[in-house]
Amino acid sequence: MTESDFVLKGSFEYPLEGNIVWKAPSNIALVKYWGKKPNQIPANPSISFTLDACATTTSLSFKKLEQKSNFFSFDLLFEGKAKEDFKPKITTFLERIEKYVPFLKEYHFNIETSNSFPHSSGIASSASGMAALSLCLVSIEKMINPSLEEAFLKQKASFLARLGSGSACRSIEGDLIQWGEYKNITESSNLYGVKYPFDVHSVFKNYHDTILLVHKGQKTVSSTVGHDLMHNHPFAEERFKQAHINLDKLNATFKEGNLDNFIAIVESEALTLHAMMMTSLPYFILMKPNTMEIINRIWEFRKRSKTHVCFTLDAGANVHVLYPESEKKEVFQFIKDELVAFCENGHYICDRIGYGAKELKV
Ligand code: PMV
Repeated sequence: MTESDFVLKGSFEYPLEGNIVWKAPSNIALVKYWGKKPNQIPANPSISFTLDACATTTSLSFKKLEQKSNFFSFDLLFEGKAKEDFKPKITTFLERIEKYVPFLKEYHFNIETSNSFPHSSGIASSASGMAALSLCLVSIEKMINPSLEEAFLKQKASFLARLGSGSACRSIEGDLIQWGEYKNITESSNLYGVKYPFDVHSVFKNYHDTILLVHKGQKTVSSTVGHDLMHNHPFAEERFKQAHINLDKLNATFKEGNLDNFIAIVESEALTLHAMMMTSLPYFILMKPNTMEIINRIWEFRKRSKTHVCFTLDAGANVHVLYPESEKKEVFQFIKDELVAFCENGHYICDRIGYGAKELKV
């Protein structure tokens, strides 16, 4: 598929009005995307677990205008309240995708969106938010052209979501999604996420992710700035190569179910992501002292308990604690006894691997 395959072509009759609701999950990368080329093209391939509990629900009502507008006409409610400061981000997104969904200026939209996780929990809502909005728009496209197939619509939603926030393209389906050209997955693409096509050992079914909210405030450096700092970064080329190598290793691990190898790849990826931040110019640190404390305690506990708990990080201070279903009792007890004390106000979210976005009937 190329970019032009995603342009809605032909002349259709547009529906006059309607309302669509989608709930899209967040995702956590195991091999990280960090660094991009123009037009939201990733500098390296990545793979993620789709989450289940952390999600954004977006309701999109649309009403056809008497005349096509010269600008994007929409109102935005976030958790029931008007949210003017989110509007520029949505406008930028709509500008980027207009070429592919040419009906945008034919309508006035009411966008109502809410997250399952608390606002300012340090959990990025851009992946689930952009995925949910893209799915709503693609559903309108399906009303315009009912002959479009489900598989294409999912791919298009992922394609559009990527233009809003790169990692959002991995939030349409589950349970393991790969994004970015990678030699061992023929169908992989820089333009959208694809379902991981190979066998995955049963030990990865129902994998748990308990998200420890170490710091709920705004990040000091945004992902956009962080990605940008990978240009002229002294270690960038090696890092991009390493992501391919780690995907190779992960493929073998998923097949064999070797959790020790899984841990080594996932933790190294998390620390490499933060090492890239610490070695860019200007350099920055998003981990907090409690992030380090939690990591050290996970290492100590893993050694003494012989369980397979491990951690990963996104671009922030929060810690994602990953563990298999068979060890959930022991690990969760450890989290409560030893780790929750390092969370801001003792807050954490119990999540697990999920199976993708759902349309909610209105
Ligand atoms: O989607 P963005 O531009 O917010 O970048 C996300 C980058 C990481 O979360 C750090 C890694 C990833 O692959 O999700």
